[in-house]
Amino acid sequence: MSKRDFLSTAGLSRPELDDLLDLATRVKGKRPGQVLGGKTLGLMFFQPSLRTRVSFEVAMVQLGGHCINLSADDLYELEPGEQAIMDGRAEEHVKDAARTLSRYVDALGIRAASRSGTWEHDRRELLLRSYAEHASVPVINLETCFEHPCQALADVLTMRENLLSLQSRKLTLLWCNHPEPKSLGPTHSVLQLAALMGMDVTLAHPLGFEVDHEVLERSKQTAGAAGGSVRVVNDMTEAARGAEVLYARSWGCTKYWDDNEREAMVKRSLHDWRVDEQLMARTDNALLMHPLPVRRNVAATDAVLDGERSRIYDQAANRAHVQKALLMQLLK
Ligand code: CP
Repeated sequence: MSKRDFLSTAGLSRPELDDLLDLATRVKGKRPGQVLGGKTLGLMFFQPSLRTRVSFEVAMVQLGGHCINLSADDLYELEPGEQAIMDGRAEEHVKDAARTLSRYVDALGIRAASRSGTWEHDRRELLLRSYAEHASVPVINLETCFEHPCQALADVLTMRENLLSLQSRKLTLLWCNHPEPKSLGPTHSVLQLAALMGMDVTLAHPLGFEVDHEVLERSKQTAGAAGGSVRVVNDMTEAARGAEVLYARSWGCTKYWDDNEREAMVKRSLHDWRVDEQLMARTDNALLMHPLPVRRNVAATDAVLDGERSRIYDQAANRAHVQKALLMQLLK
């Protein structure tokens, strides 16, 4: 039987998503027992993490397994290119690292979200995809520039807990300002799952911050087939009107992906792209979501982040529950 990876929300079918969310709901608040006793999850973080790292460790321990955690400082610089002549900085090829690690651990989680070139280069998720190709154990995407599928599972579970059915519910995915260039991973992944659930999604961003064209077109098709819709607006006030969920997150400008200074210059005039009480008042009493970490009073004000409609900590808590379900499906 071929191994299963979890790299993207794009390949999930509706029954697969429902199964995962139902299992997460069943394990939530319960200890499902030592179902992964003796199993080891290897985690590799090439960028910092609080939630992903801790929630995976907690999930594995509560299922009877354990984690080995590696950060960029622990690892050799890796070469993902096929037939590369390795006379540069990379000390080890991904295929050798992946095949070796597959002899030690039962699954691998990888966060590889750094900017290393143009958008056309980084959207290919070369390091993650190369690990998935060469590892003989399941590989889990812990965030790339392109996707953050585990975050999106937690987001959809959080919405489902609050709204019950997500069919035709109004979700606004709102770009907000941030001093640093951010990945498009959480936005792409939640957009694709919201489309699969048949939600009416409004994607709101300033001109120049378009999401990946293929992700957008695929999401429109998926949503249409599921009885929902995806529209794009460039006006945050219009985007907020009637929203039942307002999901705030910054993401980078793909046009200037390899030019941080240019992106920073563009963002100088975009400080208004921030969630505050005035904007929330235009919604249909929306839930406020954000995957965290959040720049308080830049992306969203303290008042809304700490307000009664905020679900930001529920999202973070649900990471552990959806990941338990995922690990049970991949490893049991
Ligand atoms: N949302 C999220 O992935 O958080 P971390 O970067 O802390 O893992």
